[in-house]
Amino acid sequence: MFNHLKSLQSSVSTRSIMSMFDADPQRAATFSARFGDMLFDYSKTNIDQDAKSALLELAVSRAVAQKREAMFGGAKINDTEGRAVLHTVLRNLDGDAITVDGENVMDEVLSTLARMREFANDVRSGAYRGQGGQITDVVNIGIGGSDLGPAMATLALAPFHDGPRCHFVSNVDGAHIADTLRDLNPETTLVIVASKTFTTIETMTNAETARAWMAGHVTTPATQFAALSTSAEKTAAFGIDASRVFGFADWVGGRYSMWGPIGLSLMIAIGSDNFDGFLRGAQSMDRHFCTAEFDQNLPVLLALVGIWHNQVCDYATRAVLPYDQRLSRLPAYFQQLEMESNGKGVSMDGADLPYHSGPVVWGEPGTNGQHAFYQLIHQGTRVIPCEFIVAARAHEADLTQHHHLLVANCLAQSEALMKGRSLDEARAIMAAKGLTGDELDRQARHRVFKGNRPSTTLVYPQLTPETLGQIVALYEHRVFVEGVILGINSFDQWGVELGKELATALGPIVEGRESADAKDGSTRALVDYVLSQRR
Ligand code: F6P
Repeated sequence: MFNHLKSLQSSVSTRSIMSMFDADPQRAATFSARFGDMLFDYSKTNIDQDAKSALLELAVSRAVAQKREAMFGGAKINDTEGRAVLHTVLRNLDGDAITVDGENVMDEVLSTLARMREFANDVRSGAYRGQGGQITDVVNIGIGGSDLGPAMATLALAPFHDGPRCHFVSNVDGAHIADTLRDLNPETTLVIVASKTFTTIETMTNAETARAWMAGHVTTPATQFAALSTSAEKTAAFGIDASRVFGFADWVGGRYSMWGPIGLSLMIAIGSDNFDGFLRGAQSMDRHFCTAEFDQNLPVLLALVGIWHNQVCDYATRAVLPYDQRLSRLPAYFQQLEMESNGKGVSMDGADLPYHSGPVVWGEPGTNGQHAFYQLIHQGTRVIPCEFIVAARAHEADLTQHHHLLVANCLAQSEALMKGRSLDEARAIMAAKGLTGDELDRQARHRVFKGNRPSTTLVYPQLTPETLGQIVALYEHRVFVEGVILGINSFDQWGVELGKELATALGPIVEGRESADAKDGSTRALVDYVLSQRR
């Protein structure tokens, strides 16, 4: 499938990205697209007009438009789980009716959203109280999609945070919940147990611990618990009253779920109006994705750049680099989004993929990353496509110099990656420092940057609930388009099952109640070590 693109790539790979700007003064305009006030620039890649056309044709031939209609229309495109994929419905605030199995699901979605708003408003106003009075702290207990989304977005939208403090506990490592609860007053804390299935061992273990902590101080601990789940039966069995249970359907995937009940902690933090803004931002990106021509369609273009770098150029990883401290959890969020969705080795029909699955996604906010791993991005032997994300304006009106420096650094990095520094330039720098002869040559070689390293930049006016909604929906649809092109099911996650099963079996062995004899030599030795250290 990628042969034609690979042949185009081998012809462009002999040209530098810089020379493409010389050949086409309009390149920045031709290889960028806008959505509202947002600008996506992919001109600092080696995609030329032929490659762009071929990529756009690929999207057409892989039936991206038809699959998009199927997803938005409620078809059961997650066919290994027999489910529709309708997280977009959660932000379809004023959209059309959507039918699943003959039922319009909008009524249920909107009534749950109304209940969430009412509860969030009550928590924020003090109408809903703990034993000790107004709620001061909210602890969201969840993991994966039931944690990363609200945790990432609550941090991202800190300037809008005027509700109780929010804390996020995910890891089964007792250190996480112990460190979180240590300074909290149980009498004024609300615990939200967030789990689509309400069976996830980490979440249920942490929820039990939180309940015991609460029971030590509060007469009716269950009244200070809320639950977000698809299983009303299990939340009831845990003892949480139905009035504080916010349900959703199985057609909302865990990593796509923060738009609905899983976003409750975010809604409590920023208020329901700002949460609405977040949903409206995402909804506007949905509309753009559904209506814009592919060559102006941000999710499609971002996906095609991703396919070009991963499947065509064979670059195995992708760095996501937000120049925005408040987006410091965004790379982790995108890791789950991309890697749990497109980290699959078989296509929809079960055949082995004849090409690589989705890329390794990683990153840290700039400028911090510059002082840690950018060395390798600039001079390492592997090419790492970088995705820069930056706001034109900060929220800190009195600290504009900080933001100027932040933006300058972001733009400098993509420029440096593309331009590099030649041996002649490096020699001139060393000569100016007074070096001569062999030493000049030797020192100069260490200061060469090969350049020609690709990056994209997404710029937006300011990080607001609307923009954050747009950015996250943009990446969700990007992952969808990549999955469609790769022919895989982006909405299951069977790859997490085996580890869970083995962990269940290892539990009694690690406790010392069962023998490790049936395990492999390495696992036996590791168990022996742990048990010996405990004795
Ligand atoms: O183990 C992976 C996973 O199933 C994710 O897909 C999901 O987001 C996470 O676990 C948490 O699941 P739940 O919300 O059911 O607790």
